[in-house]
Amino acid sequence: MCGIIGYIGPKASDVVMDGLYKLEYRGYDSAGIAEYNPNTLSFDIFKEIGRVEDLRKTIDKSYETNLAIGHTRWATHGEVNKINSHPHISKDKRFIIVHNGIIENYKRIKYEYLKDYNFYSKTDTEVIVNLIEHFSYEYSVLDSIRKSMTILEGTYAILVIDTKDNNTIYFAKKQSPLLIGIDNKGSVLSSDLLSFVGVCDEYFSLEDNTLGYVRGKELVILDILGNEIKPNYLKLGIKEEDINKGAFNHYMLKEIYETPFVIRNLISKYFDNDDIVLNDDLVKTIKEASKVYIVASGTSYNAGMIAKYYFESFGHKEVSLHYASELFYDNTYIKPGSIFLMFSQSGETLDSINVINKYKGLFKIISITNQEESSIKRLSDFSINLYAGREIAVASTKTYVAEIVMSLILAFSICDKKNELRQELTNVALAVDKVLIKAPICNAIAKELAKSSYLFYIGRGLDYYVAIEASLKLKEVSYIVSQAYPSGELKHGPIAVIDDNTPVIALITNEATNAITRVNLKEAKTRNAKCFVISSEAFAHDNDALSLPNVVQHLSPVVLGVAVQLIAYFTAKEKNCDIDKPKNLAKCVTVA
Ligand code: AGP
Repeated sequence: MCGIIGYIGPKASDVVMDGLYKLEYRGYDSAGIAEYNPNTLSFDIFKEIGRVEDLRKTIDKSYETNLAIGHTRWATHGEVNKINSHPHISKDKRFIIVHNGIIENYKRIKYEYLKDYNFYSKTDTEVIVNLIEHFSYEYSVLDSIRKSMTILEGTYAILVIDTKDNNTIYFAKKQSPLLIGIDNKGSVLSSDLLSFVGVCDEYFSLEDNTLGYVRGKELVILDILGNEIKPNYLKLGIKEEDINKGAFNHYMLKEIYETPFVIRNLISKYFDNDDIVLNDDLVKTIKEASKVYIVASGTSYNAGMIAKYYFESFGHKEVSLHYASELFYDNTYIKPGSIFLMFSQSGETLDSINVINKYKGLFKIISITNQEESSIKRLSDFSINLYAGREIAVASTKTYVAEIVMSLILAFSICDKKNELRQELTNVALAVDKVLIKAPICNAIAKELAKSSYLFYIGRGLDYYVAIEASLKLKEVSYIVSQAYPSGELKHGPIAVIDDNTPVIALITNEATNAITRVNLKEAKTRNAKCFVISSEAFAHDNDALSLPNVVQHLSPVVLGVAVQLIAYFTAKEKNCDIDKPKNLAKCVTVA
């Protein structure tokens, strides 16, 4: 959830600060930086609650430095305050650390190894830096880190400065992402490729249970046994223009507007004329699977509901859908010969990684992510790229649609209707263009919703699945408590809380459920609810709030999905919310 970055090279403080801005979507409770001060020949630490911009204002600009490490925090251990912010320093002030991850046994370590220490913060991280210092009285720095790794349980990517050495950054990694890039100017270490943009063109991703150091441009990577590892560099595929907001005020809106390109991109990547192009072994694995387990979290889980429908309806597969955070702790019986389909935009969600580690080797794992490089991708037997371009707004939008479309391509790849899909997807991309033209109508609906503190989305079948995502999106960015119900369920309980002007938004894109959903809405209206209908043009009523272009029924979640994303965006805008960085959230959930 947190972002870490370190740099050795000219203007290191500027590089780290630029990197922190790019990492900020991973956590934004507070931020901090440690940098070498050539005037005092010591390290300065600056921390600030709030955003990286707040930190920037506190930094001493009177010197240039060759070495800095920085951190942007999403608090887990210890409340949001300056003391708990990173970097953390060891008791005898020899080591400074930034950390992404969670140390599960930090309390036991305090008791067993660090009894005499008085900890100034409530973080688990302070334990790591002191454990390293504890061993450093007997061992080299690298060996102290290695010894600490054998004791630490949990997840971590750490960058460590030895204050006796102003030219070295030590690192270690287990389960939290850590990437390294080295070019002729300097060396950068970061938890996210985004912070490499504009700094270096090549990078590589560290494996778990590795450690090492960057000293100037010298790089040493070791496994836990001390064997040297050779880096395998990859070309950085992201450019500066891919990660700026362009003409939009917010990433979220920009990313919603990118949806038609995302669909067209998936067509160009996964079709040759009308034929679906996928790895033969992958298709065979899905075809032969006795059962499909779809596993995901949040918005990816909501896309998984639609994927389940596709695999059952078109692939004729038995499917069960699970929250990753639940499946890991369940004793769910998994049918022999099953496969796991892991949906994860970021490819770094720890709940999903835990599930993969639990079932890897026993069942084939297929991951669907939007990252060219990620932990989930590396752990999977097959990986499928969504090619949606970086999604920077914390709330997922275009990748939700990409997950839906990709799962339909996969489901069609094992059924005999394959040849129709390309045209259907081409049509739906055009339909999304038309939905985007209706943004002002979504804005008008949003202005009404923004007046309420709670509301309901209702629908049936696929519309209900989209209602669930509509509710999540609205909650995430506008903080309005929104609940989704199958429309027939309102009368079984939730209708009790409907009173004057409670908004109820009915999603209706299926002609077969059009009439009955309107009956259910009427039941709410009779209790004075403020009702809105979002329907398909083919059977829209005159007073419906929004009508959407007609598309083949199974692709209605795409057009509907974009419409409810726009409504969530405009509602948050109306309420002056921090749309791209909603409170308490982070883009990449690397804690369980
Ligand atoms: C989406 O808007 C949220 N930020 C969140 O629910 C997210 O979908 C969830 O954390 C799963 O993330 P992943 O797709 O990267 O695994």
